[in-house]
Amino acid sequence: MIQAKVAEALNSNQFLQEFEVNGWVRSYRSNRFIALNDGSTINNLQCVIDFENFNQELLKRITVGAAVNVKGVLVESQGQQQRVEIEVKELKVLGDANPEEVKLTILSPKRHSLEKLREQAHLRVRTNTFGAIMRLRSKLSFAVHSYFQQNNFHYVNTPIITGSDAEGAGEMFRVSALDMNKPPKNEEGEIDYKQDFFGKETNLTVSGQLEAEAYAMGLGQVYTFGPTFRAENSNTSRHLAEFWMIEPEVAFCDLAGNMDLAEDFIKYVLKYTLEHCKDDLEFLDKRFNTEEAAKPKAQRTGMSLLEKIHFVIDNNFKRVSYTEAIEILKNCKPNKKKKFNYIIEEWGADLQSEHERFLVEKHFKCPVILFDYPADIKAFYMRLNEDGKTVRAMDILFPGIGEIVGGSQREERLDVLQNKMKELNIDEKELWWYLDTRKFGTCVHSGFGLGFERLVQFVTGMSNIRDVIPFPRFPGHAEF
Ligand code: 4AD
Ligand code: MG
Repeated sequence: MIQAKVAEALNSNQFLQEFEVNGWVRSYRSNRFIALNDGSTINNLQCVIDFENFNQELLKRITVGAAVNVKGVLVESQGQQQRVEIEVKELKVLGDANPEEVKLTILSPKRHSLEKLREQAHLRVRTNTFGAIMRLRSKLSFAVHSYFQQNNFHYVNTPIITGSDAEGAGEMFRVSALDMNKPPKNEEGEIDYKQDFFGKETNLTVSGQLEAEAYAMGLGQVYTFGPTFRAENSNTSRHLAEFWMIEPEVAFCDLAGNMDLAEDFIKYVLKYTLEHCKDDLEFLDKRFNTEEAAKPKAQRTGMSLLEKIHFVIDNNFKRVSYTEAIEILKNCKPNKKKKFNYIIEEWGADLQSEHERFLVEKHFKCPVILFDYPADIKAFYMRLNEDGKTVRAMDILFPGIGEIVGGSQREERLDVLQNKMKELNIDEKELWWYLDTRKFGTCVHSGFGLGFERLVQFVTGMSNIRDVIPFPRFPGHAEF
């Protein structure tokens, strides 16, 4: 008896051998054909039942969603749809699924909207689309580690609970063990966090960067890959309140080196998925193309999902300074005709996703790395340029996604960093340890953060970020 996953049975040539397979019933037709899936592949294994030789009561329990154990012989299939199938000799129902209740869920065979599937996120992984997305997500995670490990980076686990606001944007979820109904107060009548669990105010991390910098100053090249949290109230298709970020940080590396690293890394993980996720990508490619065809012509990308992935792998990312980008945007048609929601009037303007997408999708038509942004619209830790008004920042913009990477060369000069922090009212006492890294052997160093879900969005072609993470967290939603 060969115990096999569905994927293994489907690829096997061990004809006339006995196989044992577990899985969930995807469909059962003509009282004869079970389509069995166990999550190992997008494809189902056809299990054929000679119903006259089986107990009728047992056969009634073969319903969509039920968990079954099948023992039988692997044979070449008579049908056109599949190469092999199992002739069932023995069948056990391991877990029933009541058809009346199944009807009320997304397990029922009819087509469901992505919104409906989101309401049943605990079951949606049993659909073809979500099975494919989650397998891809898993492979992409592995590719991330594989890239950095092959290139001699060390994986560091930065804290989830922290006392600092890495981005200085104040979009944090508080962590507290105080009784919110009667918190202790200090003499000024404010909540006394000295009496809280950590003896200070703490929050969920928005980024592991500052801690990663400290570790890069000893381990040389490091990366984080963990959950990050933002309490920004953005109800968009590209924002989550809980998302996973990959943050490499490299000592003795400047902004150009940082761009090279980001580009090489992204191309590697994309190639990896092309090589290791063929079936799932083919399925998602078809899905993407159907979705595209339903869109108005002007909104179509004109490329299939697989073509888009190949396009990014095969082409150099276009490197453009912020100043050049502003000139392009100021003079472009949608700006002049006031089609943008935010009209670009002068240098210094923050770019909105409509501008980023114009640059990538309409103007350059390829991934773009924008660099040297105005200091005023970027975080405190970025390296000030000689011009005194721009910083060595970079954002990578992707078609259909907008910003996928944000990074910079870091301000390594203690006095310049201290001045900047003063300017922004960032308390030196809060970041004393960060400043220490500039006191003891400071050096040029750089890093970036890649939003993992935005990468998964790009590879799967899903238009909403809520559909590429198992249990999405966004304003008003923390179900499951
Ligand atoms: O641009 P961000 O805010 O940069 C940082 O946090 C830096 N500390 C990174 C670094 O240099 N080490 O975020 C980085 C990336 C963005 O480009 C985006 O892909 C993703 O994280 N991101 C989000 N993804 C999903 N939901 C959100 N709310 C996100 N906010 C940022
Ligand atoms: Mg950013």
